[in-house]
Amino acid sequence: MTIHEILEWARGVLEQAGVENTRGNAEHLLDHCLGIDRTARFFVRHERVLSSTEEDAYRRLVARRADRTPLQYLLGKAPFLNDDFVVDERVLIPRPETEQVVEVAIRLLRAEESVVVPVILDIGTGSGAIAVSLAKALQAKVWASDVSLDALEVAQTNLQQLKVEEQVTLVHGDLLRPFHALKLEGRVDLVISNPPYIPHGTVDQLAPEISQHEPRGALDGGVDGCDFYRAIVPAAILFLKPGLGWLILELGDGLAKAVGEVIRDQPELSEPRVFPDLNGKDRVIVAKREQ
Ligand SMILES: C[S@@+](CC[C@H](N)C(=O)[O-])C[C@H]1O[C@@H](n2cnc3c(N)ncnc32)[C@H](O)[C@@H]1O
Repeated sequence: MTIHEILEWARGVLEQAGVENTRGNAEHLLDHCLGIDRTARFFVRHERVLSSTEEDAYRRLVARRADRTPLQYLLGKAPFLNDDFVVDERVLIPRPETEQVVEVAIRLLRAEESVVVPVILDIGTGSGAIAVSLAKALQAKVWASDVSLDALEVAQTNLQQLKVEEQVTLVHGDLLRPFHALKLEGRVDLVISNPPYIPHGTVDQLAPEISQHEPRGALDGGVDGCDFYRAIVPAAILFLKPGLGWLILELGDGLAKAVGEVIRDQPELSEPRVFPDLNGKDRVIVAKREQ
């Protein structure tokens, strides 16, 4: 088959399976199979005939995409801010919404003139996207936890590939618990997290790419989606520098009010501020430890 023919075939298969943007998916997978990038594709002639090995490999990838495996898992990478992160089914695919959370954090910490090397805790690091991006942007020292050993393996690969092993330390365990052993209480400039926040009853209603392929433990936020906020907010206070430390959390859809109340329940924390994402949805909530 020629490139033109197989792309047409792939688009048909993907359309039948209900995949969105069939053209983009078909082309990305073919680029991946042929080991070329987007620019090189421009020069590849559509009448070129694929070898049988190339064709077989491509058909297998298209079949997996038709089974609604996310494109990023098939490509083995996902872009996040300035870098590509290695991803597979062991970690949540980092999202553009989370880039906004990181950008808010960078802005707030850059404005703190007294902070030279920020000390940061990233809770539920997954692929390490938040931890790595903050380490690079702020020359920060970051400790990042995850309860999933599988996720930490992927994060370790990203630390190595993006050359921040000296700056980011991965720890295994539940939320902020592992940080007690590191004696970080009262020394932290920022506690940040994109916790699991999908209400338990709605996880199965998400697109199959998410509900059937991304790790459940990265999605399910309990009955109302707020379980992790209720656990993280009070536990974070002890670690934040009094009068200085920031708490920054990604918000699930419609959770700004409930999480705001969780924060207001803590007298040490300032009145929370909420920032929207690029779609205008409340996405980031921020508070400072005042005392
Ligand atoms: C929504 S994902 C966020 C991943 C990554 N930070 C990002 O923004 O792309 C939530 C992460 O929290 C982790 N997690 C779930 N429960 C946890 C717990 N009790 N303690 C630490 N991490 C947890 C999951 O394994 C997952 O990696």
